[in-house]
Amino acid sequence: MSNLALSNFAYLIAAVLFILALRGLSSPTSARSGNLFGMIGMAIAIAATFWIGESLNLLLILVPLLLGGSIGIYAAKTVQMTKMPELVALMHSFVGLAAVLIGLAAVFNIFETHSIVQRFELFIGAFIGAITFTASVVAFGKLSGKFGAKPLIFQGQHLINLVLAIAMVFCGVIYFQSESIPAFIMMVTLALVLGITLIVPIGGADMPVVVSMLNSYSGWAAAGIGFTLNNSVLIIAGACVGSSGAILSYIMCKAMNRSIISVMLGGFGADTTADIAGQAERPVKSGSADDVAYLMSNADSVIIVPGYGLAVARAQHALQELTTKLIEKGVSVKYAIHPVAGRMPGHMNVLLAEADVPYEQVAEMEDINGEFSQTDVVLVIGANDVVNPAAKTPGSAIYGMPILEAQKAKMIIVNKRSMAPGYAGLDNELFYSDKTTMLFGDAKKVVEELVKAI
Ligand code: TAP
Repeated sequence: MSNLALSNFAYLIAAVLFILALRGLSSPTSARSGNLFGMIGMAIAIAATFWIGESLNLLLILVPLLLGGSIGIYAAKTVQMTKMPELVALMHSFVGLAAVLIGLAAVFNIFETHSIVQRFELFIGAFIGAITFTASVVAFGKLSGKFGAKPLIFQGQHLINLVLAIAMVFCGVIYFQSESIPAFIMMVTLALVLGITLIVPIGGADMPVVVSMLNSYSGWAAAGIGFTLNNSVLIIAGACVGSSGAILSYIMCKAMNRSIISVMLGGFGADTTADIAGQAERPVKSGSADDVAYLMSNADSVIIVPGYGLAVARAQHALQELTTKLIEKGVSVKYAIHPVAGRMPGHMNVLLAEADVPYEQVAEMEDINGEFSQTDVVLVIGANDVVNPAAKTPGSAIYGMPILEAQKAKMIIVNKRSMAPGYAGLDNELFYSDKTTMLFGDAKKVVEELVKAI
């Protein structure tokens, strides 16, 4: 078998492993093996790429590979679970930047002329890459709080985006027809600006969908690089990321009742301040861990709604201990998971799996929403937006987003540290309900007290 045939065979195996990785990642039970398939696939793809490379400058490849790999390992080991979304956004920006740089390198290579097909690939790959790059940097800034999570809305925003997009495509077409380098550079510059103007109007509450959309864009940008470099495995891996990201975005849009077209065009976001928190101090009922422990252990049914605060406090193990104690006392306990609870898709599922919570105790929103009205006690722990009834009020920033209907339960206990708002910055009527008792304090400390008191 020739070198090329051998490496193509290796690429085929890598591609199959990538598909198995995606399949594995679709369920918490198989996620670890999915990850392993992905890692083996990537190792095979890298080895095969070395194998076919001719007159490679190993120093130029191995030094950045080791450097990038070490930074990656360090970041993966040290990043806090709650900071994952911004890390992911930053990584998407690197993929976008890589697509732009490879595109520029190919265009500046005056010793090579590009066929019509190659010019088309360069045109598409570079502008998707450029939009992904700046949009992901802005998303990173918003998620990490460096740029503020508030939407930046100004008059004529859509018109500006439209003009930028038309000008960008126009320059791309000129490059496509004439191989004009200035037109290519102009196209990339306009795409870089468009990446910023598309994301700035998007509010904090809608960022999860945007991050997932950028994930998809970064995949398509990688596929574009694959065409430029004539590398089939990069095309396949990019297409896998692109399409799975698009499917995830669609699922999240449905979960948040947003239109996918608006997300793609960057035209949605919170444009109201009607229910912004902190307007006036209002009285709430609060209780102690002993009171709550008494209520919970005398209930027939308890639903636990975990949120971002649970992840911050790393209270999942203590919570699992609490659940076990309640079940031993004959209480039926279930966890209710909202698709955007926490700060990244599947955040709560990962946390609960880490604490060995059996999967049958964990229910998705659409399966459990009907059960709240017959439930004795709901314990909302470190969650806020995902149980905010403001989602039913027209004009609210989260209007239309489905919520976990905790307000329908007979009794509601809310654990958080203060009356501060959640990610979307909104006040929450649930906290002021007659049926609600606030249990203030750090989630881990409070749950440990509950465990002791039961
Ligand atoms: P949030 O609405 O952000 O509320 C979390 C609550 O946890 C806060 O009100 C906070 O109140 C409390 N908290 C923080 N630290 C705590 C601790 N140590 N102990 C106890 N409580 C603590 O969270 P959620 O209900 O999970 O909703 C998620 C939000 O994030 C949604 O708006 C969603 O759109 C957004 N988001 C989601 C994703 C994905 S994909 N899941 C990605 C980005 C953004 P105190 O400060 O008073 O304690």
